[in-house]
Amino acid sequence: MKKQIAILSGDGIGPEVMAQALRVLEWTCDKESISLECIPAYIGGAAYERYEHHFPQETQKICASADAILLGSVGGPIDKAHLPKWKNCEANALLALRKTFSFNINLRPAKIYKVLRDISPLKSTVLGENVEILIVRELMGDVYFGEHYQGIKNNQRYASDLAEYNESQIAAVAHQAFQAALSRSKKVTSVDKANVLATSKLWREVVTEIATHYPEVALQHMLVDNCAMQLILNPRQFDVILTSNLFGDILSDAASVIPGSLGLMPSASINEAGFGLYEPAGGSAPDLADKNIANPIAQILSTAMMLRYSFHREDAAERIENAILKTLEEGYRTRDIAKEGDVVLGTKEFTDKIIENL
Ligand code: IPM
Ligand code: MG
Repeated sequence: MKKQIAILSGDGIGPEVMAQALRVLEWTCDKESISLECIPAYIGGAAYERYEHHFPQETQKICASADAILLGSVGGPIDKAHLPKWKNCEANALLALRKTFSFNINLRPAKIYKVLRDISPLKSTVLGENVEILIVRELMGDVYFGEHYQGIKNNQRYASDLAEYNESQIAAVAHQAFQAALSRSKKVTSVDKANVLATSKLWREVVTEIATHYPEVALQHMLVDNCAMQLILNPRQFDVILTSNLFGDILSDAASVIPGSLGLMPSASINEAGFGLYEPAGGSAPDLADKNIANPIAQILSTAMMLRYSFHREDAAERIENAILKTLEEGYRTRDIAKEGDVVLGTKEFTDKIIENL
C-alpha cells in the first residue's frame, strides 16, 4: 500500500528546498521500489494567509492521516515579526504540531563532513579525526509545556514558567538515547543541571536506572553549563547527548555550528507510536528565499531520516546520504559552505548533482 506523506513546505526557503528534496525522494523511491504519495498542506505564515491560523485544522487533518510529516520551515523576517502573519508564527506552528502528535523525542545529528572540515569554526586540532554527535532531546516536557503565567504580583509585573517532568517522560527519551548509542560508539552523555534543579535530580536518577538495561553503553552525567563549554573545547568526546527540552534546544544550536552551516543539519521528531516529523534544524532564512541559493542538504537529509525511521528503509536513506557525500567530494558546494575557488551551485543545480549520484 502507498505510504502517504504530509508535505508542509512552510515559509522562506522552505518551499524551495522542499521542492528539491522531493525530487531526490522521487528518484530514490523509484530506484528502491518505494511507493509514496505526497499530500501538500499549509503551515506557518503560508497557512496564516489562507486560514488566519499558523497550524489550521485542514493541515492537522492531513497530518493525522499521513504516515509521516515532512516539514520545510516556518517564520518570517524579524522586522515584520509584529504583523499578525508572523507574530509567534514559529512557536504557534511547531509547538502545536509537537503537542497535537505528542512528539516526545527529537533527534538532532551534528556531523562533520571530512571534505568540509575547513568550514567548521573550530580548529582542526580540536575536531581531530571525526566529530559525529547525536543530540536526543526530550520534546514534550520541561518549561515548554508547564504553566506559563504573566501578570501582576505584589504590585509589580511578574512572570513564571513551570518546569515539570515525570519519570515515564524521562525514561522514554532515555531508552531512545541508549538504543541509538548501541549502533554508534556506545556512549551516552546525559546533560542536566542536577546541582540546582529538582527536575534535573529526577532526570539523573531515572537515566541512571535506565542505563542498567544497557550494560554495553557507557553513561556519563554532565552539567549543562559544562556541556556548553565542552562542545566547543572538545566535541570529539561526545557520541549521544541525552537531554531535556530546554537544554536540548540550546545545546543543539550550539552543536549545529560545528559542521559549519545550519544548511547541513536535519532533524526528526518522533512519538511513542513511531509517527515522525522530519525537518531541517535551521529556520526559514527569509533573506535567502527565492534566490536559488539556499542549501538543500538539511531538507534532503531530513527526507533520508524519514525513510530510515518512519519507513525502516535504511538502504534508501544511505543511498541519499552517500549521494550527498559524493557530490561534496566532487567539489560542488552551495554558497553557505563554499570557500574561495570552490564551484558554487544554486539550490536546484546542486540537487541535480546529487540526483546524478543517486
Ligand atoms: C527549535 C526551535 C523551537 C524550540 C521554537 C521555534 C519554539 O527553537 O525547534 O529548536 O524552541 O523548540
Ligand atoms: Mg531551537
